[in-house]
Amino acid sequence: MSQVNLKKEDGIAVISIEKPEALNALSRTIIDEMDDYIEAIKNDDNVRCIIFYSEKNFAAGADIKDMAECSEEEARKFSFSPTYNKIAEVPIPTIAAIEGYALGGGMELAMAADIRIAGENAKMGFPEVTLGIFPGGGGTIRVPRIVGEAFAKELIFTGDVVTAERAFQMGLVNRVVKEEQVYDEAIKLAKRIAARGPLAIRMAKEIIRQGLDEPDQNKGIDIESEQWCKLFNTYDQREGMRAFIEKRKPVFKNR
Ligand code: CAA
Repeated sequence: MSQVNLKKEDGIAVISIEKPEALNALSRTIIDEMDDYIEAIKNDDNVRCIIFYSEKNFAAGADIKDMAECSEEEARKFSFSPTYNKIAEVPIPTIAAIEGYALGGGMELAMAADIRIAGENAKMGFPEVTLGIFPGGGGTIRVPRIVGEAFAKELIFTGDVVTAERAFQMGLVNRVVKEEQVYDEAIKLAKRIAARGPLAIRMAKEIIRQGLDEPDQNKGIDIESEQWCKLFNTYDQREGMRAFIEKRKPVFKNR
């Protein structure tokens, strides 16, 4: 039986893990199923935002029982990085909505998303070093970019699990909401994003990604200018600006 669920409504796709007995610990099969869903969604013009949300616990990390006896070669196959890279690069905005534990590979999934919302009860961290490994699903690369080198090192070297409030102070999550409001807040935010120009958002996401990888700021700005001008060839740019002038809401078509 599948342990990953996909629900699509009003242009919003919600991907959930359903393995409550192990606090949604991530097996290779779960990651493969998630990968298949992302592959299916990424070219769906009707999907304007993707939410990762699982009830009670976001995910307590990779499934340690599946990993414990891996050889080096098996660890390579077990690695979640290809799927998390796909999630980070999917041309649709993504939100991680975190209830309960988001640890290790679970937290790395959240870090691959664009925006993170946490409930007051969330407990987050990278306990890998307590197991004799370090975060290997993009954690050592994405966390410093999100919270800066010093906080990333503190989190990764100690393996400490932090509260939502502390995570917010570090910049690990965008906002903290009441535990029972995590899902609704994520949907509200996704709807706001879904109402905006989808092509512009897709391009902005890609340019932000390229800009973070580009050490020469002027080159980054050149890429931005080039892509920005291209938007003036699109239906959505005409529609957005005409709607403003005509004092009505725009109807974007993603083209
Ligand atoms: N893998 C496998 N099973 C897990 C798990 C995990 N990551 N996390 C929790 N579980 C299972 C427990 O084994 C337990 O199952 P049983 O009832 O069959 O024993 C069940 O979920 C409930 O867990 P606990 O009884 O431990 O619950 P608790 O409330 O006492 O503690 C916890 C909760 C602090 C999250 C604790 O379960 C824990 O420390 N889990 C491991 C967290 C962790 O180290 N995650 C990182 C994994 S490594 C990784 O993710 C690497 C990577 O990037 C690829």
